[in-house]
Amino acid sequence: MSNLFRTKDLGKLLADASAGEHGLKRTLGMWSLVALGIGAIIGAGLFVRTAAAASDCAGSGVTMSFVVAAIGCAFAGLCYAEFAAMIPIAGSAYTYAYTTLGELVAWIIGWALIMEYALGAATVSIAWSEYLNNLLGGAIPYEWCHSPFEKSYRVIGDALAAFPADLVQNAKNGILVLSDEQYLSLAPNFQSMVTTFQGIMNLPALLILLVLSLLLIKGTQESAIVNGIIVFIKVAIVLVFIVIGWQFIRPENHTPYLIPEGTPGHEGIFTWGYGGILGGAAIVFFAFIGFDAVSTAAQEAKNPKRDMPIGILGSLVVCTILYILFSHVLTGVTHWSEYGAAGKEASVSYAIQKYMVGYSWLATSVTIAILAGFSSVILVMLMGQSRVFFSMSKDGLLPNVFSHLHPKYKTPYKSNMILFLFVGIFATFVPGSVAGDLTSFGTLFAFVIVCAGIWVMRRNSPEIPRPFKTPLVPLVPILGILVCSFMIIALDKFTLLSAAVWMVLGLLIYFIYSRHTSKLDKH
Ligand code: ALA
Repeated sequence: MSNLFRTKDLGKLLADASAGEHGLKRTLGMWSLVALGIGAIIGAGLFVRTAAAASDCAGSGVTMSFVVAAIGCAFAGLCYAEFAAMIPIAGSAYTYAYTTLGELVAWIIGWALIMEYALGAATVSIAWSEYLNNLLGGAIPYEWCHSPFEKSYRVIGDALAAFPADLVQNAKNGILVLSDEQYLSLAPNFQSMVTTFQGIMNLPALLILLVLSLLLIKGTQESAIVNGIIVFIKVAIVLVFIVIGWQFIRPENHTPYLIPEGTPGHEGIFTWGYGGILGGAAIVFFAFIGFDAVSTAAQEAKNPKRDMPIGILGSLVVCTILYILFSHVLTGVTHWSEYGAAGKEASVSYAIQKYMVGYSWLATSVTIAILAGFSSVILVMLMGQSRVFFSMSKDGLLPNVFSHLHPKYKTPYKSNMILFLFVGIFATFVPGSVAGDLTSFGTLFAFVIVCAGIWVMRRNSPEIPRPFKTPLVPLVPILGILVCSFMIIALDKFTLLSAAVWMVLGLLIYFIYSRHTSKLDKH
């Protein structure tokens, strides 16, 4: 009987992956890798979740939430950096687990990474669709930019004139959108004036996924160039917002810094005061997801031993600094409590339009930069996922089709197409919030395994050359495991249950299929 905990020999692994005719092309330099990281990191987390974390939990203290989340990520990032320089292979956490904790754990982590990358891409493509519709002034019919599980209560046309003025003042473009609670609390005569829209499918999300999948098929270098341009635009706009917005900060918006005890709607321990900083950290953690995606490109890096740690840690540091400054300005320009009622999703344009008089051009630029920014997140997530599949398929745990390279472009094109279909199904039919929380689960789970893997590897194979060494082992890995496990426990029950169902499905596939098709011990 084959051993569930058999590991892959590192020497053999590196030999198998050495470039040659059948390998991925080594085209990425240091700056491309840092840009890849920033491309994957700055997205919906910053532009959408910052305002949500401030209004729901942390108040102006959301800057501290970013610091807490960054510290948690730094522990994992340091561990990723050691592995990525030591084992510069496409599969990232999956490959690291295969050499340290064995095949079963590797499979489990590969399966969890699908949640991070594939669902991450789906989540951000849904946010992309929402922003596109914002930019177009709501021109895309509701049915065609929402999943069938979503519906919206709206007051339009003549009915608006008959509605209570305090509600109508929130109408935009002649449409008043009501929350479920608002709708249910209406008197029956008002309810009968409300039109209910039901989603059918999210077409714009599908479209952006298709375009980016085709770009990935065309080439890694081409994708890196597009990513570089996007990163330049989005970082520039974030900086412009910080610099201009700084002049509009009103100190009274930052006082008190945290949400005071007894604030209505903030009863839970993670929704006010110092606890609120932690609650906010769990929400903005999403904004850091993606730095690890750099490691999936290790096999395409020109000089992975030097550049992998720079790509992973460099992008993390740059984004952390930008996040802290950005959130300080966002909550300084507008009081955090305003984001709860209005402008949560489009918080940046809301703050500019309402309080930064004379800068409405910036609001439009921000929306365009956000759309571009979301595109690069999706691009790198899709790329990361196809590289994890590539490695799993090379190892025999997934069918061969996932590692077929295009004869000319040298990209895993069939894998990209299958992935497009898979992610597309999620993006078109599943609500964004569900996919977003599962993405956090998959990521945190991978972080825990990578931290544990570093510790195990130092004990079992201390002799292997390590171009980058995680400092203070085992303290850093242990702290990484603790912080990330804590954040997993803090996820809501529905997410944990869905993740458990996903993992059980993965185990079934492993025991029925992959375990028998594995190439380990068969050479
Ligand atoms: N960090 C990425 C984002 O915020 C996933 O969109």
